[in-house]
Amino acid sequence: MAEVLPFERSEAAPEDRPVLVVDLGGQYSQLIARRVRECRVYSELVSHQTPAQAIRARNPRAIVLSGGPASVYADDAPEVDPDLWELGVPTLGICYGMQLMARDLGGRVERTGASEFGRTDLRAEGGELFEQVPEDQVVWMSHRDSVTAPPEGARVTGSSPSTPIAAFEAPERGLYGVQFHPEVVHTPHGNEVLKNFLYGVAGAPPTWTAAAVIEEQVERIRAQVRNARVLCALSGGVDSAVAALLVHKAVGDQLTCVFVDHGLLRKDEAGQVVETFQGHFQVPLVHVDAAARFLGRLEGVEDPEEKRKRIGEEFIRVFEEESQRLGRIPYLVQGTLYSDVIESGGTDGVAATIKSHHNVGGLPEDVDFELVEPLRLLFKDEVRRVGEELGLPEQMVWRQPFPGPGLAIRIIGEVTHERLEILREADSILQEEVRRAGLYRELWQAFAVLPAIRSVGVQGDERTYAYPIVIRAVTSEDAMTADWARLPYDLLETISSRIINEIPGVNRVALDISSKPPSTIEWE
Ligand code: XMP
Repeated sequence: MAEVLPFERSEAAPEDRPVLVVDLGGQYSQLIARRVRECRVYSELVSHQTPAQAIRARNPRAIVLSGGPASVYADDAPEVDPDLWELGVPTLGICYGMQLMARDLGGRVERTGASEFGRTDLRAEGGELFEQVPEDQVVWMSHRDSVTAPPEGARVTGSSPSTPIAAFEAPERGLYGVQFHPEVVHTPHGNEVLKNFLYGVAGAPPTWTAAAVIEEQVERIRAQVRNARVLCALSGGVDSAVAALLVHKAVGDQLTCVFVDHGLLRKDEAGQVVETFQGHFQVPLVHVDAAARFLGRLEGVEDPEEKRKRIGEEFIRVFEEESQRLGRIPYLVQGTLYSDVIESGGTDGVAATIKSHHNVGGLPEDVDFELVEPLRLLFKDEVRRVGEELGLPEQMVWRQPFPGPGLAIRIIGEVTHERLEILREADSILQEEVRRAGLYRELWQAFAVLPAIRSVGVQGDERTYAYPIVIRAVTSEDAMTADWARLPYDLLETISSRIINEIPGVNRVALDISSKPPSTIEWE
């Protein structure tokens, strides 16, 4: 095959001119980066310890300094490299970031005794940040210290009843500060303020779109792997699917996907993976139907951790066998997301180290592959948009999180073929009804659990002694905490009667009304 040449491009890719969000320890730092991206301007989070030279080397369109919990005069207050102020890059300081700017540049920050937390009235007095924004608006504040003198040469452009300096601007130095949080939804005009900064002040074009991401990643993948072969483990989840499609778009049949079907997926899911990749996208796919192997390894196993361990080990074994069969393949695709990069402390923007990513079911640590990570710059919602743009079916794009060990950890006690079938059918009814009710995307997860008990029932004139099914549906932001979803009674009734009527072996349906903590989302 001929060498694939990167295509020529006249303009800088959005990724080449990022907006760098300097993380000063605030709880909203990541949110700022996401908001900037929602304005279709590419942004990355960097540590406040990043030297100004390293920031300059990224050629940023703009810099945003995040909020932070500290007082700028505290001993351990996060600082930025003072040379940052001299870069000539438009810089917006938010909350703590604004105070840092004032303190370092000839202004003053004091504890005035007038703290503000929550909704606050702001009066804007001109200023580029407030173009086309109502003069009087409600903003979200969260501060104890206040700026009592703006940086030298800066003009005060906003005030609140207890904070006379709630915004300032020094356009000739490219410095802008706001005490409030434009990134949170409680600041209704916050998005416009951010857009004014990004488009108006920094002149950043809104070009970060799913189509642009695809173009950029395709080029990067081509440059990385050239004409070598690439391997990708598909799991059925959106991350590995989007990563695989990007690589396929870049290097075509140099990619081989391996789908280790452990037989623990939901009803029709394995078929959908095969149909989508092999049938629709014509991606070279090795479908390993290893259901019998996995069931064999799970025989007699009741302990949840032991189940996980055996499934993980078997997954690695099958994957290694298959990859050896395929001959030497130097590259492996991983669906690492930007949130994984951030979580592992990789926000220094210079040399990010990432934790190994175990989404696929835990690939061996010592594999001799070079990684291809086309989602490394993307948040989850961006992966979904890219997936949509690539034509991935809706069911895959919006699939709720699903654990690597699959249904095995939703069957309490031993996993047998018979019990898998019962759970799979019950879960399928639940999925169908939740989707029909239009609630699928609202819920973090909704699934069925099969406990290891039976109870007495009566069907027709006969006494039954059968399994119950437990319905688990939760809302959550990040799976760290979760609340049980208040599903409508009518929906619960439909699900319950369908499960009991349609599945022999089930005579009762129960609803899990526990939040996390103290419960977990999964039952095992
Ligand atoms: P828990 O049950 O700990 O689950 O509240 C939190 C989130 O993690 C998912 N989960 C897993 N994902 N492998 C995975 O890939 C696993 O072994 C696993 N266990 C739990 C779970 O579905 C939920 O979204």
